[in-house]
Amino acid sequence: MAVDILLGLQWGDEGKGKIVDVIAPKYDVVARFQGGPNAGHTLEFNGNKHVLHQIPSGIFHSSIKNVIGNGVVLDPIIFRKEIDALQKYNINFSQNLFISKKAQLIIPSHRMLDLASEKNKGEGKIGSTLKGISPTYQDKVARQGLRVGDILDKNFKTYYKTLFEIHKSKLDFFKFDIKKDLTGIVDFKKYDYDFIKLEAVFFEAIEFLKTFNLVDSEYLINEELSNGKSVLAEGAQGSLLDIDFGSYPFVTSSNTTAAGVCSGLGVAPSKVKEVFGIFKAYCTRVGSGPFPTELNDTTGDKIREIGREFGSTTGRPRRCGWLDLPTLKYSSMLNGVTHLLMMKADILNDFEEIKVCIGYKLLDGTLSDKLPYDMVKETVEPIYKAFKGWNCDLEPFKTFDVLPKEMKDYLAFIEAEMKIPVSVVSIGPDRTQTISKL
Ligand code: GDP
Ligand code: IMO
Ligand code: MG
Repeated sequence: MAVDILLGLQWGDEGKGKIVDVIAPKYDVVARFQGGPNAGHTLEFNGNKHVLHQIPSGIFHSSIKNVIGNGVVLDPIIFRKEIDALQKYNINFSQNLFISKKAQLIIPSHRMLDLASEKNKGEGKIGSTLKGISPTYQDKVARQGLRVGDILDKNFKTYYKTLFEIHKSKLDFFKFDIKKDLTGIVDFKKYDYDFIKLEAVFFEAIEFLKTFNLVDSEYLINEELSNGKSVLAEGAQGSLLDIDFGSYPFVTSSNTTAAGVCSGLGVAPSKVKEVFGIFKAYCTRVGSGPFPTELNDTTGDKIREIGREFGSTTGRPRRCGWLDLPTLKYSSMLNGVTHLLMMKADILNDFEEIKVCIGYKLLDGTLSDKLPYDMVKETVEPIYKAFKGWNCDLEPFKTFDVLPKEMKDYLAFIEAEMKIPVSVVSIGPDRTQTISKL
């Protein structure tokens, strides 16, 4: 059977975790194909609220195989914590969790390098989650990274040491007075000492990781497909954070778009069928970088407050703004989206007026609905269309046909502009608060 993809069309945190959990029962395999612990995917069901970082969001369904693919960067220390936090759910990990031997390992000095690089950038910092994502992908491309499969090699500690020595020399390059500059994080002058402590935790986590299914996941997934099983690829981050197509350099370090599925899982493009594109009924962004429809006013504050827009991974306040159709069209084009899923509609219940950006006024005064090459240098002024808000509690609405007229108008406009059906409207964080045509 086929691979379907579910991914974010904005700057992350669209609600991917919730929807993967909702549609997972239709699938035999759920697989993460990129990113790592920078992700925070929230699931709510039966009174439980759970945030996953590296483990796929199908983990709460016992019949599903959850795969951490080769395109992922895995932090064993965070992995161990995630597994510990899942103990109360009595999950049989030996049956439903599989980790690619080709996934790259995040080691403690990767996190330190992330920190040093951000510090070095000063005002121009990316706003990284400081989980070591960029330094780990850098080592992958430099062909000097450590992979999960390496932990089974008796020389693993030597490989680790070699990489650590490279990191040490890179860290020396930054030459911060870390004690003063990065107080509370590490005493740079003594980082040898600190790393000895961190290393002990790391190597314990490595022993723990060895007790899981470490596999050639490209074979696993393709064999499942050959046996008529279905696969859902779960995106992390969002299309506008893609290393190639996002608002570079304010992006993450992987291909978050559909293209990343083929390289991040080892599946051929011909195997891909549906592409589910998730977006919030408004926009948010955490970290630095351009955000045309950002609202630095009381409306933005209201969205943040009602939407509880604070990062699931870092707790940082998310920047908020109106829905932006040019970016949504761009993301849908890159991904070949076949269904749109609109999340957090309930957050707009109390708004008299809801705006949607339909195009941009460029610096030279011309109008466009395309993203300029560099939105950092070429600032754009959003052009809005205003809609009357639905101004009611959406909780009682269970199907599309009974939705309030104002919301139907809002959805019809989005569908007409995007030329893609909106197949899901999410009206709350819980599994059950989902209106679906899928
Ligand atoms: P992800 O990274 O895309 O999985 O999204 P996050 O989990 O980081 O952020 C989405 C947040 O919105 C989480 O706190 C979810 O519980 C919550 N959420 C998801 N869908 C809805 C919805 O339709 N309404 C409301 N109110 N909250 C939602
Ligand atoms: P999920 O999967 C929102 C952002 C960071 C920063 C930039 C680079 O939960 O949607 P990185 O740590 O990757 O080097 O940070 O990307 N970012 C996210 N923003 N949701 C995420 O994941 C994110 N993962 C990274 O804030 O701006
Ligand atoms: Mg998130």
